[in-house]
Amino acid sequence: MKKQWSLVLLFAVSLNFAQQGIPNYQPSEENLNAREWFQEARFGLFIHWGVYSLLGDGEWVMNNQNIAVDTYEKLPSFFNPIDFDAEEWVAMAKNAGMKYITITSRHHDGFSMFDTAAEDYDIVDATPFKRDVLKELAAACKKADIKLFFYYSLLDWRSDDYYPRGRTGLGIKGRENGDWNAYIAFMKQQLTELLTNYGEIGGIWFDGHWDQKQWDGKKFGKLNVDWHYRELYQLIHDLQPHALIGNNHHIAPISGEDFQMFEKDLPGQNTTGWGTSASDIGQLPLEVCETINGSWGFNLQDDKHKSSKELIHLLVKSASYGSNLLLNVGPMPNGKIQTEHLKSLSEIGLWLDQYGETVYGTKAGILEPDNQLASTRKDRKVYLHVLDPEHNVIFLRDVPEKIKSAKLYGTSKKVRYEQNDLGLTIAIPKAEMNPINTIIELELK
Ligand code: GLC
Repeated sequence: MKKQWSLVLLFAVSLNFAQQGIPNYQPSEENLNAREWFQEARFGLFIHWGVYSLLGDGEWVMNNQNIAVDTYEKLPSFFNPIDFDAEEWVAMAKNAGMKYITITSRHHDGFSMFDTAAEDYDIVDATPFKRDVLKELAAACKKADIKLFFYYSLLDWRSDDYYPRGRTGLGIKGRENGDWNAYIAFMKQQLTELLTNYGEIGGIWFDGHWDQKQWDGKKFGKLNVDWHYRELYQLIHDLQPHALIGNNHHIAPISGEDFQMFEKDLPGQNTTGWGTSASDIGQLPLEVCETINGSWGFNLQDDKHKSSKELIHLLVKSASYGSNLLLNVGPMPNGKIQTEHLKSLSEIGLWLDQYGETVYGTKAGILEPDNQLASTRKDRKVYLHVLDPEHNVIFLRDVPEKIKSAKLYGTSKKVRYEQNDLGLTIAIPKAEMNPINTIIELELK
């Protein structure tokens, strides 16, 4: 091979290698245990909160309204969420049946919701509130036995050092051309803080990778930068071996990650068009994340709230794929959660009080869920979730094993069924159909 070409090849291979994360990553024993815990947990609370909440227009407001850096920097001076009560949030999550919380420690706007020594643009040094909300949340979570994860944005619309710039935030004025390596060092400093100053952390949830990819309106192209995942991931695993790493990059897992996430999508469905496709599903624990209305950060005018029935269906469908659901709230600038979302969360909690056994600690079921049916499995039991109350006679072609009995979950009422070479037919009396979800418990032989 000509020297020139081998150099090009070497460069391509090393750039590719740099994106691959930790070579031959072997998760520690603690990490494997944490994955197991994660898979049993099934339900978590996502929290998007930052100075953007003040504007009531979602967490992308800086980009969407092209707010110049010095203008946006006025927000912290009047961010004063006097009604914030960490224990209240944790109690809300717990009553909803959630087992963990993932909160934005720093979103794309570059504002840190924790006390960082890397700069003063943070909740303690730049707001009249002066309280480290992550610290208060960490303490409240510990007390309530809820695990705490930190969302961390790789993308930054404010930092000069986030250079080369990505695809978004290009209309934001007031940035200089800085130094990418300094940006990587900054992230390492912040991640070190997050993994040392807040006790035991559930994990880190990265986002923003896709900002550095070309996009032609239909699909993503090449990545422009080296995110130094190998070092970032190693740092996290060294500081807290049990902490789980996930990255919302919309591609197959990168070595060093411990769970895989699907944004606004059931695993592999890619209904958004920019999501993760089925062929990119790896072997890691899965997590679906979704909003209650259409917004992550507080959005005053977004009233497209999903009903608690829709949200329960989403939880059950996620579990049918063997996936967790991370359901989002965007607290208001005063630190309160909007009443519509409080109501949904408590309704889901009541439902889980009764039917949680068919969700927590289950594995993917025996069929691909749709709007009529979903299913989860635990040992020799299969839970058939009938999501459409009109659908009381069910025929399943591919039941992998013979069944021994069928009954209405939580009762001793037997359900009529017939299993033969063609498949399994189940007939549920109309009067027994539950408007939200009728659960049939099948016992396998
Ligand atoms: C997207 C958005 C971001 C949000 C995240 C949650 O990546 O950029 O605002 O935090 O999804 O899944």
